[in-house]
Amino acid sequence: MTLKNTTFLDACHRKEPEHTPVWFMRQAGRYMPSYRQIKGNLQVTELAKNSQLASEVAVDAVTRLGVDACILFADIMLPLEGMGVWFRIEENVGPVMLNPIRTIDDVNALESFNPERDTGYIGDSIKATLQKLDDSVPLIGFSGAPFTLASYMIDGVANKDLVRTKTMMYKQPETWKLLMEKLTKMVKDYVCFQVKNGVHAVQLFDSWAGCLSAEDYEEFVLCYTQEIFHSIPDVPKIHFCANSSALIQPFQRTGADVLSVDWRVPISEVWRKCKEVAVQGNLDPAVALAGGDFMERKINSILEEVKQYRGHIFSLGHGVLKETDQINLGQIVKKVHRGTKKRA
Ligand code: CP3
Repeated sequence: MTLKNTTFLDACHRKEPEHTPVWFMRQAGRYMPSYRQIKGNLQVTELAKNSQLASEVAVDAVTRLGVDACILFADIMLPLEGMGVWFRIEENVGPVMLNPIRTIDDVNALESFNPERDTGYIGDSIKATLQKLDDSVPLIGFSGAPFTLASYMIDGVANKDLVRTKTMMYKQPETWKLLMEKLTKMVKDYVCFQVKNGVHAVQLFDSWAGCLSAEDYEEFVLCYTQEIFHSIPDVPKIHFCANSSALIQPFQRTGADVLSVDWRVPISEVWRKCKEVAVQGNLDPAVALAGGDFMERKINSILEEVKQYRGHIFSLGHGVLKETDQINLGQIVKKVHRGTKKRA
């Protein structure tokens, strides 16, 4: 089957697309009235485990916004259940761990993950989403990266200093290494399972790695991400991290095809430092709250900045905020398409 819209994959491969592709992290989310309606009283994890509904919200967002890629509807925490890690996701807080990982015994007790057994519903969701997309746009699969998953497992709730996570990393290096090795194995198996089921690209969310210095990132994290990217066959690999200005150079060595950066890092700076990558980003999600002329000015300034480079995927620097008006996101898509369309 051939995709009708290849702009996203073209940009990932740094080929010239028909127009600059656009998609948004959390494009299927609470800001969207139709999402809220389909979700009803379900928890986000229940919604993600219902392949019919999960595929419906993922594809509904694509149709309503006119974006150039669909993202699988799931959550980075879900495969951890297969390792015996239990959590709930609290509104406006995020994941809260019921059995945080603090000692070597906790790490030793983690079970091994089996993608078919533990996340069979993800395979079903991918198939259902691909069927509903009917080759209109590509489907992006994803996983949390070991560091970001470890930070939830150890700290228990996200906190900006990651106190317990860093304490384990610095004071119990053997425990840290074993945990990262186990998570790396899980992520590799999980992502390869998604590719086998048909996703066209994969994004690794290392959302909280930005709290590390480049030196610590290289010592405690980089090799695991490299191992994951090197194990993924054939599809483009996107690396996402927030607050990542200090880490751009090490990210280049992860093996990612695309670096997804937030609004604090000028995209042209990423390209000055890293020649061989595509870049995704980086409008501040708060600009999409503002809308209007201000939003237009900010979109133009990104398009102007990236004009001389090849391989830009227009996106927000982080997920869509729940206060966002869907109309503004639709306007971003139209504006970027119009502003970058190549004449035939
Ligand atoms: O459209 C998409 O982007 C696909 C779906 C998706 C979700 N979570 C669904 C979801 C994706 C890609 C994620 C990834 C995810 N989950 C990350 C990495 C991205 C990032 O934000 O850095 C992280 C850190 C999580 C953990 C998590 N799950 C958080 C922090 C939250 C928000 C809690 C809140 O209420 O603010 C969740 C819940 C969640 N996952 C929602 C969605 C749409 C919102 C809750 C809901 O719809 O009920």
